[in-house]
Amino acid sequence: MAILFISDSDSPAEWLKELQELSPNIDFRVWPNLGNTDDIETALVWKAPPGALANLPNLSLIQSLGAGIDHIFSDPQLPTGVPIARLVDKELTRQMVEYSVLAVLNRHRRAETLREAASEHRWHVVPSTPLEQSRIGVLGLGEIGLSIAQTLASLGFIVQGWSRSPKTITKIKCYQGLGGLETMLSATDILICALPLTRATNAILSTNTLSLLPRNSYVVNLARGEHLVEEDLLTLINKGHLAGAFLDVFEKEPLPQNHPFWDHPNITVTPHLAGLTIAASAADQVVENIRLVGTGKPPLHQVDPRQGY
Ligand code: GLV
Repeated sequence: MAILFISDSDSPAEWLKELQELSPNIDFRVWPNLGNTDDIETALVWKAPPGALANLPNLSLIQSLGAGIDHIFSDPQLPTGVPIARLVDKELTRQMVEYSVLAVLNRHRRAETLREAASEHRWHVVPSTPLEQSRIGVLGLGEIGLSIAQTLASLGFIVQGWSRSPKTITKIKCYQGLGGLETMLSATDILICALPLTRATNAILSTNTLSLLPRNSYVVNLARGEHLVEEDLLTLINKGHLAGAFLDVFEKEPLPQNHPFWDHPNITVTPHLAGLTIAASAADQVVENIRLVGTGKPPLHQVDPRQGY
């Protein structure tokens, strides 16, 4: 049995080292050197080229190298019936939480105003924003969104969350459905998008939804660029309705050199690094999934192709 590794950004050497520590006799192949395709039972993937998984007759597990699996479902030749698993990893979640705290505090403590004053050598005291003017709304209450919401609540923020299915979470006011989304947005000063990318969530942040946010609110996107209609965001910021944004993901990545976000004084751009998979932390989940599938069981964190997450 062999593992096929395909990624445009993860290190095959690092993964091989971590997997070998757990399973010394591993047969590890790196795209595009497939060898005998009959041997390949597991594909470890991040943004595989379309069709890369199409002709593997014994493929029994497609394991994402990240939390998201939209990069797998976007393959028009994706084989059907093969279990697909996402990574749910403590380290990955921790990084996403850390990034959200950075973005929220950037807005809450008016870091941009302070940087601007410092650049002019101005001693400008900006008091902390009252918590009721930094109400947080988290879109998506899965593993990552929930941890973000709970951490921000533990820092004292007023936190609300929105998810597809109804949830009850201590200290977090939960909303669901279209009506719930509108209600939450109208009472959110800092919106954090932590949704999976599906047909239902593609372009969910557009003029229609973003203009429901109160004046001067702020948008954080650490999910996928396709959640946000970039032009709509820009227009709302330039019109003064939104105060700004903190963005890790974009419609096109790397963000094109001439993109208006780069130089915008109210937009912070980071290069899709909010949560980077660390092989040393995630390898045991991959080995466990191979073991589970090998004994006829479903893998951990299997995704439902009908829902797209
Ligand atoms: C990162 O974007 C991930 O899906 O893990």
